[in-house]
Amino acid sequence: MAGSGRLALRTLPGSGWVRGSGPAVLRRLQDSAVVQPGFLSKDEEETLSRELEPELRRRRYEYDHWDAAIHGFRETEKSRWSEASRAILQRVQSAAFDPGQTLLSRVHVLDLEPQGYIKPHVDSVKFCGATIAGLSLLSPSVMRLVHTQEPGQWLELLLEPGSLYILRGSARYDFSHEILRDEESFFGDRRIPRSRRISVICRSLPEGQPGQPPPAC
Ligand code: OGA
Ligand code: MN
Repeated sequence: MAGSGRLALRTLPGSGWVRGSGPAVLRRLQDSAVVQPGFLSKDEEETLSRELEPELRRRRYEYDHWDAAIHGFRETEKSRWSEASRAILQRVQSAAFDPGQTLLSRVHVLDLEPQGYIKPHVDSVKFCGATIAGLSLLSPSVMRLVHTQEPGQWLELLLEPGSLYILRGSARYDFSHEILRDEESFFGDRRIPRSRRISVICRSLPEGQPGQPPPAC
């Protein structure tokens, strides 16, 4: 009966990279909170981090702004990329966005130091449309989504280096997202030690707002 056991497992919602408070929320978000482990090859990971490192190194890590969602970070918004990186971003666009969606022209690059973390927030609907897609580099991390009205409903996404995550629709609007700090970085029982992490985040433009996108999301 090993065969039917495997079949039953395969039909359960969720995966090795997504956990949730229950089967209903997993099923409800299975197309709107998505993780694709190994989206980047090792070469592609290196291409991106080698290109980003000198630009990030010029900046200082920021801490403890009283209202800030992000602690221990430096960031940049990048619009000029090497050809190799453009090909990677093109793959992200095809994988995560509908052909009709327009992307913010500047890609958000966020560098979290080992103690850095992102508190729960929902990206501003003024500056960001229905879809957020992020590549993770260097360190694994755990992203937690919590329903803004019903905090008992949550998901955890395991973001390994080279993975792509996509938040769209309900996962983007009805759930907050956060990146857990090292002390709290668990995927279920599994400890996910945090070190420095770089994310490369593409966002769609809010719909019905033609013209110049605002400078930041
Ligand atoms: C953000 C954010 C997630 C990430 O900058 O708004 O949620 O993957 N970033 O770094
Ligand atoms: Mn965010």
